[in-house]
Amino acid sequence: MDVLLKKENPIILGIESSCDETAAAVICGRKILSDEIASSADIQSLYGGVVPEIASRAHTDAVAKVVEKAVKNAGIVYDDIDAVAVTYGAGLLGALLVGVSFAKAFAYALNKPLIAVNHIRGHLAASYLCDTTLKPPFVTLLASGGHTAVLHTKSEAEFEILGATLDDAVGEAFDKVARVLGLKYPGGPNIERCAAGGKANVPMPKMLKGGGGYNFSYSGLKTAVINYCHTKEQKGESYEKADVAASFQCAAIDVLVEKTVAAAMEKGVDTVTAGGGVAANGYLRASLQKACAKNGLKLVLPEKRYCTDNAAMIAAEGLVQYRLGNFADMTLNAKASIPLAATFKTVQNQK
Ligand code: KG4
Ligand code: ZN
Repeated sequence: MDVLLKKENPIILGIESSCDETAAAVICGRKILSDEIASSADIQSLYGGVVPEIASRAHTDAVAKVVEKAVKNAGIVYDDIDAVAVTYGAGLLGALLVGVSFAKAFAYALNKPLIAVNHIRGHLAASYLCDTTLKPPFVTLLASGGHTAVLHTKSEAEFEILGATLDDAVGEAFDKVARVLGLKYPGGPNIERCAAGGKANVPMPKMLKGGGGYNFSYSGLKTAVINYCHTKEQKGESYEKADVAASFQCAAIDVLVEKTVAAAMEKGVDTVTAGGGVAANGYLRASLQKACAKNGLKLVLPEKRYCTDNAAMIAAEGLVQYRLGNFADMTLNAKASIPLAATFKTVQNQK
């Protein structure tokens, strides 16, 4: 394997298994050649959330088939692959281990370079696939199940965290509120569906104050919704679930949009991007589009399927690391938690 012979537009196989999606994708440069996902969300839904052991078993069942399909649908053969990029953190440890072990074996057997990808940087890199001309600097809203942050991307390699949640992530708040409203897992899309029939007329805490600066705080909002529902139930009064869902959705999202646009204006960038599962929310997408247009900012918003977990984004971040010459070796291990914007190299150097 000669990783020094780097190509301008390498063919990269991405593998993702950090939660309940087993995904594999092939990209050539920034072009997506294939993108496959097998999800265990339907089984997890029966338990009201992700059961780590069930996720690991589902990944073990699916990973080889998903990779095979991704390679076949890309119209390539194994030997065409220039590097194998895999999510090594953050996520459920057992789930990550399935993808990491598979990727190591695959890269070893085919004598291909291995790239370790931070899942969160994958969410950020999805925008490079959506707009193949996108170049830093830009400001990004990251809104997923595990993270909520506003980042200033200075170069493909370097992020400045302008603000982040001080407690719950916004996706986590969607999932918890969904449970209180008796909506099934995954909570985010179900809140969005429920909210579509409601009015945002239930009083919610003032979110702009929470956290301060570009930081966020979601625990107060979550508690307010829980208290509202429980108080109504204790008094034997009824309430409209759809109105609660709509009110929560507005409160949770308006602050994200407002702070992201303010950060872009303050940093003097002309482009905003977004990523993470909550960026698939229709209300967020429409609000961010409107706010960016109003402020003369270009918005790069990946298609919904590239906001939620997928492997094309892992391959896209793999491409960034490939160009930086940041490869992993056979000692690569999964990590349940890694710093938000860290690369494999920076985490390794911290040891
Ligand atoms: O990025 P993601 O797929 O996985 C993580 O890296 O966490 O994000 C999952 C989160 C979940 O909390 C899910 O409820 C939320 O994204 N989500 C949504 C929507 N689709 C997924 N939240 C609001 N509206 C949606 N349409
Ligand atoms: Zn994710």
